[in-house]
Amino acid sequence: MLKEKMLKSLNQQMNAEFYSSYLYLAMSSYFESENFSGIAKWMKIQSQEEYGHAMKFYNYILQAGGKINLSQIETPKSDWNSAEEVFKDTLKHEQKITKSIYDLVELSIEEKDHATNIFLQWFVTEQVEEEANASKILERIKLIGTNKNGLFYLDHELGKRA
Ligand code: FEO
Repeated sequence: MLKEKMLKSLNQQMNAEFYSSYLYLAMSSYFESENFSGIAKWMKIQSQEEYGHAMKFYNYILQAGGKINLSQIETPKSDWNSAEEVFKDTLKHEQKITKSIYDLVELSIEEKDHATNIFLQWFVTEQVEEEANASKILERIKLIGTNKNGLFYLDHELGKRA
């Protein structure tokens, strides 16, 4: 059985993952409007992954006998000035998510909630990958700078994401 504080925090994290899904969908639509359909596809898949993360929390809360609290999802930013700005925001967002996952892990230790602690381990590992991906793409965009050919090549590559 989940303790009250843990249940509240898990529901908040579920909401944060739904927000992530919204944010990446907004980013996908931005790239679509800029005619970078490959990066748009990458972002759309990222958005779907985030929906999957939210559902992992949803399923776990129910399985642990907790009540789901579907709260309002914040409206994401909808416009950016460059691909670099988008990936800077992506990295910043993932770092924030990592911090909230770590806070949840701390809480599970404080509350001696071993089951939730094990459940959260998947997210700890996932966040390493999430930050690494955002950081790698951001570094490449910085290297490309204003070179249009470089950006179109990156668009082609990111469009290969399945
Ligand atoms: Fe669900 Fe990108 O962290």
